[in-house]
Amino acid sequence: MTQQLARPIGLFAAAAFAAALSATAALADSAGATFSEGDNFSEKTGQELYSNVCQACHMDKGQGAVGAGKYPALAKNENLAAGGYPVTVVLHGLKGMPSVGQMMSDDQVAAVVNYVRTNFGNDYKDAVTVEDVAGAR
Ligand code: HEC
Repeated sequence: MTQQLARPIGLFAAAAFAAALSATAALADSAGATFSEGDNFSEKTGQELYSNVCQACHMDKGQGAVGAGKYPALAKNENLAAGGYPVTVVLHGLKGMPSVGQMMSDDQVAAVVNYVRTNFGNDYKDAVTVEDVAGAR
């Protein structure tokens, strides 16, 4: 019985190992000069994530900008009232906005969403959870 079980598990392990190897190869290929710490953001707090990821487009006070493109204000934005909406936008992007959440952990997405929902004149206190983010991936 042990023998019979061991075989498929061994095959599975081999397949998993092969998959891990090719994933490593893919990472090495895309590892160019841009990322110094892998493919993920290392900032932890919502504020740090906002400053380093979102601010370039949405500006330092969340006021947004109009120029080469239109970057909507996050300040006093009623679209943030339902936490699921910004979670989805951060995870999956929205037209001109890239899906920056793909390079964040669930904790980081929740932190940055909760940050914008409670700053810049927004006062939505029903924080989104890590589980909400995991469910929206
Ligand atoms: C490269 C520029 C860019 C970055 C970086 C960026 N955004 Fe955006 N964001 C946009 C653009 C452009 C839109 C508008 C998309 C559209 O509707 O065409 C947008 C839309 C949004 C919306 C929807 C606003 C609304 O009223 O519907 C939210 C919420 C949002 N961004 C949050 C964030 C957060 C949080 C971050 C950082 C984690 C972030 N964005 C990073 C460009 C960016």
